[in-house]
Amino acid sequence: MKMIHIIFLVVSILFSTSNALTQDFCVADVKASDTPAGFPCKNAADVTVDDFVFDGLKMSGNTTNIISAAVTPAFVAQFPGLNGLGLSMARLDLAPKGVIPFHTHPAASEILVVLRGAITAGFVSSSANTVYVKTLRKGDIMVFPQGLLHFQLNTGKTHANAFVSFNSPNPGLQILDFALFANNLPSSLVGATTFLDLAQIKKLKSVLGGSG
Ligand SMILES: *[C@@H]1O[C@H](CO)[C@@H](O)[C@H](O)[C@H]1NC(C)=O
Repeated sequence: MKMIHIIFLVVSILFSTSNALTQDFCVADVKASDTPAGFPCKNAADVTVDDFVFDGLKMSGNTTNIISAAVTPAFVAQFPGLNGLGLSMARLDLAPKGVIPFHTHPAASEILVVLRGAITAGFVSSSANTVYVKTLRKGDIMVFPQGLLHFQLNTGKTHANAFVSFNSPNPGLQILDFALFANNLPSSLVGATTFLDLAQIKKLKSVLGGSG
């Protein structure tokens, strides 16, 4: 065999192998459990265009609640076509004074675009606890680096809304006040670990549904 034939053979074997490993998509089989590597794939024969379309963000979320705000997620659990693609979205609706309280997404950075109203948004660096805060208006975008505590507050006089994108199909969401006051961690321990007054802790636990 001539050298050129050997090269051709090797290249075609490599090409066919890599083709075999290439998969266009892996729509989540949401009946299974999510894993660190994502959901298992739904059978390709059962995939339809509706797995790649999500209409749940066109309606305003219900802001009649304690935070006067709503987060409507389009994460992989709601939108199975995102599985394995490394991205997702959500919609934020905020009545005047509404707030998405201090929270973190452990698995993703976030980019926000304001569509309506005025939103004061900020995050705190983890290394120096430096605050980065700005009031954003229609068309403004802001990025929140992965894992950092951040918030969004409606500081305008009208309803505000924004769309956010994440570089993970399942960014995770932990709200600081809920972690401290919406569970059964004893108030004495909350006090000892946060330096907050017991009366304030009890008040927040009662408002946020915690006990202890
Ligand atoms: C919004 O939520 C409140 C409180 O749960 C509820 O009373 C109200 O009916 C909801 N509004 C709509 C339009 O679903």
